Formats: sequence, C-alpha cells, structure tokens
Amino acid sequence: MKNRLPIAFSLLTALVAFRAQPDAVAVSVATNTATPTFAADIAPLIYKNCSVCHRPGQSAPFSLLSYDDVKKRGEFIVKVTARRYMPPWHALNTAGFEEFRDTRKLSDQELSMLKTWVDAGMPAGDMAKAPAPPTFTSGWSLGAPDLVLTLPNTINIPAEGPDLYRNVVLPIDQADARWITAIDFAPTARREVHHALFFTGAANMSSQVGDNDLLPGLNLGGGGRGGRRGGGSAAAATALDAAWGGVGGWVPGITPKFFPEGIAQPFPAHSNLVVQLHLHPSGKPQQERGQLAIYFAKTPPARSLTAVQVPPMFGYAAGIDIPAGESNYKVHDSYVLPVDVDAFGVRGHAHYLAREMKMVATLPDGTTRGLLWINDWDFGWQDSYYYKTPFHLPKGTRIETDIVYDNTPANPRQPNSPVKRVKWGRESFDEMGSMTLMASTMTPTDGDTLRTSMNQHFRQQLLVMMMGRGRGSRPPQ
Ligand code: HEC
Repeated sequence: MKNRLPIAFSLLTALVAFRAQPDAVAVSVATNTATPTFAADIAPLIYKNCSVCHRPGQSAPFSLLSYDDVKKRGEFIVKVTARRYMPPWHALNTAGFEEFRDTRKLSDQELSMLKTWVDAGMPAGDMAKAPAPPTFTSGWSLGAPDLVLTLPNTINIPAEGPDLYRNVVLPIDQADARWITAIDFAPTARREVHHALFFTGAANMSSQVGDNDLLPGLNLGGGGRGGRRGGGSAAAATALDAAWGGVGGWVPGITPKFFPEGIAQPFPAHSNLVVQLHLHPSGKPQQERGQLAIYFAKTPPARSLTAVQVPPMFGYAAGIDIPAGESNYKVHDSYVLPVDVDAFGVRGHAHYLAREMKMVATLPDGTTRGLLWINDWDFGWQDSYYYKTPFHLPKGTRIETDIVYDNTPANPRQPNSPVKRVKWGRESFDEMGSMTLMASTMTPTDGDTLRTSMNQHFRQQLLVMMMGRGRGSRPPQ
C-alpha cells in the first residue's frame, strides 16, 4: 500500500482543466538551419503546445513562458515529450481510427528538433526576434459565460474514509427554454473531485434528489444516509433517462469545449441544474465549493446529442469482477443502433486498473470505423474527443466496446498493494468501464427510439446479472 498510494495520489494531482486559451500565438516556421535556436524554433513550439497549461494558476507544476523556464528543464522536456507523456493526449492516431479535432501532438520532426537543440547546449539565438510569450484571457477558457453559478453550500471532505457522492441542485428556473452549448467547472478541491456530472431537471425536482443516488433519480444502494429508493430495473430505467438528459461533465484532464457547430443540449423552461459530485478524500481535509460556467446558444440549435454508452451505466451490469493478479481481464459489450445517427465525438471512463479501451463500429455493409482507441488509459487524463469530421452511422451499425484491465503489480497505476480482487463499484479504487459515443439522431422520434432501445439493452444486461449468469458482480451493498 505504502509505495503504491503516492502514485495514485500524484495522479489525482494531475486533475486538470485549463482555463484560458492563448489570444494569439505567433507561429513561425521552423528554419532548417543546422542548429535550432530558442528564438527561431523552440519558443514557437513551446508557446503553441505547452504554455496553455504551463503558466501560473494552471494545472501544470511550472511555467514554460520564457527561455529560462525552458532551459532549466531542457533535458526533462526532451524525455517527457519523447515518450509522448507531454503534451497529454491519449487517443491513438492510427489506421482505421477516426481523426480528432484539436489534437495535441508533436511531430517526429518537432521531437528531434527539441533533442538537437538540447544536445547543442540550448542556444538562445537572436532573442530580439523571438516571439513574445502568449498572453491569455484570464478566467474561463471558453470566454465570458452567460451564467456563473457557485455551489450553494460548502461540502466538507474529510481527510480519509469512503468516497463521497453529492447531488447538488443549482436553482436556475428560467421562464424561457434555452440550449446549452458548454458547461465548465472550476472546483475548489481540484485533487479531490473524481468527477462532476451535469444534469437538467425540472425546477421542482430538488426534493427528489438524494445525496447517494448514482445518478439523480436512482439509488443503487450504497448504504449511505440516502437509503434505498426503489430497486432493480425500474430505478435503473429512471437513471437511464436521467443519464441521457445529461449535459456533460468534468473529469480530471478534461479540456472544456463547446459542442460542435449547430449542436446544443436542451435546457427546458423552469429547469434546474443538478451537479453530481464524486469526491475522493486525499489525506487532507478539504472543502469543495466550486463554480460552474454555463454557455447558452444564441439561436435554437438544429440538433442535440445523445450519449450512446456501451456498456451502459458505466458497466454497472457488465459483471466487472477482476481477480487479484489478473493481467488481461476483458469487458466486452456490443450494441446495435436501431436508427441512423451522426457521430460527433467519443469519450471513455474507467478507474485505475483499466489499461486499454477500444470502440469500433461495424456498419451493415461490413465496413468498420474505429471510434476511439486508448492503449495507455490514464485516469488523470480523461478527455472528450470530437471528430475532425462528423460522420454517419446507419441503422443496424454494431458498436462494440472492449476494455482491458491489468490487476497486477506491474500496472503502473495499480492502487492496491498487495493486489486484491476488484469489482464494479463507485469508490475510486473499485472499477467501472464504458465508452460513450456522442451522437445525434436525424429526428426527435428517432431519438426516442434510440433511448428506448438503450434502456432495453441495459435491462437485458441487468437481468442477466441478477439471475447470476453474469460474472458475479452484484449491486453494491
Ligand atoms: C493540457 C495541459 C498540459 C499541456 C498542453 C502540457 N502539459 Fe506538461 N504537464 C501538465 C500537468 C498537469 C503536469 C503535472 C502532472 C503530471 O506530471 O502529469 C505536467 C507535467 C509536465 C512535466 C513534468 C513531468 C513529470 O514527470 O514530472 C514536464 C517536463 C512537462 N509537463 C512538459 C510539457 C511540455 C514540454 C509540453 C508541451 C510540448 C507540455 N508539458 C504540455 C499539463 C500540460
């Protein structure tokens, strides 16, 4: 335990959302002279790819905003960029898999330029010609929000003990219907927030939301003071409805983004926002009372997104039960689209034991499209990935998710020493696993058909699990 926990906790420190974009970053073309210099070659590269996080007040532990900043860590920078730990980006860019927009990646040529520069003693070059360090608009990275909300109460997080789940209702209750294009979250207890999920709910629903509900409207047990509210698939169905009503989330490592052009999530008149916080004690008492920034569309959008999660409910009914010492534990689920959709983006979720996750679509004509492949899953760097070009998936397309877990001491993110059996659960050191395609149906009726069909898919899984034919997972007690 002793030597493993710091690894887990330093990962928790990696919780990141960067809050500002460069106003303008001067990018000069790398000159092809013999020795690269900071002024001509390195400054543009660092300012464009690194400074957004590596500056004061952001997630990264030091700034990269000057020649001295970079020179001090030259060797280190070559090392972490060469093994592609920085800039952080976990979606594999490989044949058969879709390309994403806003990809953070250095080219092989840029990597070798960095190395050549460091090997040559990190010459400054003509600093009079060096680009100025980027300037950033302070505050929220997506610009001035339409609405900023602060959590109504401070949540006290003890130093130790089980994880906390809190469903916090933020009263909004506007008279008009709106459409949400983005929500950003600035937690005060950055290390402790394991996730925040955002849901819309009728303004009068506040009293129905329990602290220990897995999703607003659902309690899968959990033994907390929320008690049990309805069991089995009825509650699960409610939860699914709530989950599809979700308007996004915040996880460690996410970069806030607007939904793609023309897309927004409905926020009906007289709605409130429910924020579900999952908090993980980190060894020091902390307080969470973060702020949310909400962005509304100026005009009604053409379409909204539906989350196609495979397996559904973060793998709740997928029977996740990983023996101690198992290095190659697999979870597989497959779901056939009942209607046509356009695919806009994708994300994954799992905890520390997952190593690899892959989502692939097989179209009715047999062609395949890789939706997302992460072969070095890192809980500290969860992001949503939007496709460079959205694309169509016809009715009858099979969507398959495969997740691989490594529950051996060789897993660099293994939280348990000695290793132990790990099952599906809500605690950070339990496991989960699912991948989510962000899709849009052609018509609202198709949207209803899709949600009903996903409900059925989940109920079937749940039934199998409850009849004990699953792999032994049970609802958490
Ligand atoms: C999205 C935000 C982000 C971007 C972009 C980014 N970094 Fe980082 N970087 C971090 C965070 C957060 C940490 C500290 C946590 C960690 O080590 O994972 C970090 C850590 C580092 C470290 C220390 C690693 C260690 O093992 O302690 C180096 C060196 C580094 N970054 C260099 C770079 C360089 C060079 C770039 C650009 C090519 C870059 N980073 C881009 C967020 C970022």
